[in-house]
Amino acid sequence: MARNKVTVIGAGNVGATTAQRIAEAGLADVVLVDIVEGLPQGKGLDLAEAAPVVTHDAQVRGTNDYADTADSDIVVVTSGLARQPGMSRDDLLTKNAGIVRSVVEQAAKASPNAILIVVTNPLDAMCHVAMEASGFPRERVIGMAGVLDSARFRTFIAQELAVSVEDTHAFVLGGHGDTMVPLSRYSTVAGVPITELLPADRVRALEERTANGGAEVVALLKTGSAFYAPAAGVFEMVESILLDRKRVLPCAVMLRGEFGVDGLFVGVPVVLGAAGMERVFEIELTDEERAAFQKSADAVRELVTVLGR
Ligand SMILES: NC(=O)c1ccc[n+]([C@@H]2O[C@H](COP(=O)([O-])OP(=O)(O)OC[C@H]3O[C@@H](n4cnc5c(N)ncnc54)[C@H](O)[C@@H]3O)[C@@H](O)[C@H]2O)c1
Repeated sequence: MARNKVTVIGAGNVGATTAQRIAEAGLADVVLVDIVEGLPQGKGLDLAEAAPVVTHDAQVRGTNDYADTADSDIVVVTSGLARQPGMSRDDLLTKNAGIVRSVVEQAAKASPNAILIVVTNPLDAMCHVAMEASGFPRERVIGMAGVLDSARFRTFIAQELAVSVEDTHAFVLGGHGDTMVPLSRYSTVAGVPITELLPADRVRALEERTANGGAEVVALLKTGSAFYAPAAGVFEMVESILLDRKRVLPCAVMLRGEFGVDGLFVGVPVVLGAAGMERVFEIELTDEERAAFQKSADAVRELVTVLGR
């Protein structure tokens, strides 16, 4: 049986690290694409040359040509610009929308049955662009953010309680940004909600650190943003889809009335399997949580409106 094929567009920090994780797990052959000539070819060759030492047989190669991406099972979109000094949020939005539209049109033509995983920021708005550019149904356009935000929350909870991250679960809903909604009631250690394990002020502090998780890394790095944990988030989604594991993971998906939102990509728990987003996993929210979720959805709507959608 042939190995699965995953295309990763954007051979920068997130893209190359994602390619490395997928190939080194032997999960799929990987095609790395970038607009810069030589960059994906060089990183692809370097990754391939690590294979005998890491011991996997996945093929990795880089290209600037979408013909090489044909018939991919999954296409991961990480291409885009980081915000430059003096560039407004809206400038970034418009520039990355142009990049995402162009790469998704080409990738969707080459792989009409692929599942798209969008990573480029601003995440939720870029999912709208990807869905429109591909013409794919909502089941096959999924944004990665919630897995990362939840991983950050889990890290902070495990550190605070000095327990294994493996026994720590967390839920973060909403858009990927300052308005994300960490759900502490549903965040647990060995099944016990953290609201029963930590005083309210500590829970709030961990929630706030999670919401600022991206900015905390940017402030330390000074140039560029996080990529190890984001790539790990993409890997978890790719694995659940290719192995049809039906993991319940928070992802940005097009809501059609679920959680009281219609026609917007917002982060919610979903079941990820061979068909992509197989089901929205609806959970009960308190009035306060619902209001925070709605505020987060409104922030996504604002960006989508700027894009004229
Ligand atoms: N959703 C999330 O949780 C999350 C987390 C981390 C990063 N991100 C976002 O992911 C994106 C990538 O981040 P990064 O750190 O890898 O950036 P990076 O600058 O290291 O890499 C981006 C790559 O995209 C390429 N690119 C630009 N235009 C292209 C085009 N038209 N076609 C093909 N490739 C093109 C660039 O040449 C570059 O190699 C950014 O938008 C970032 O904000 C999102």
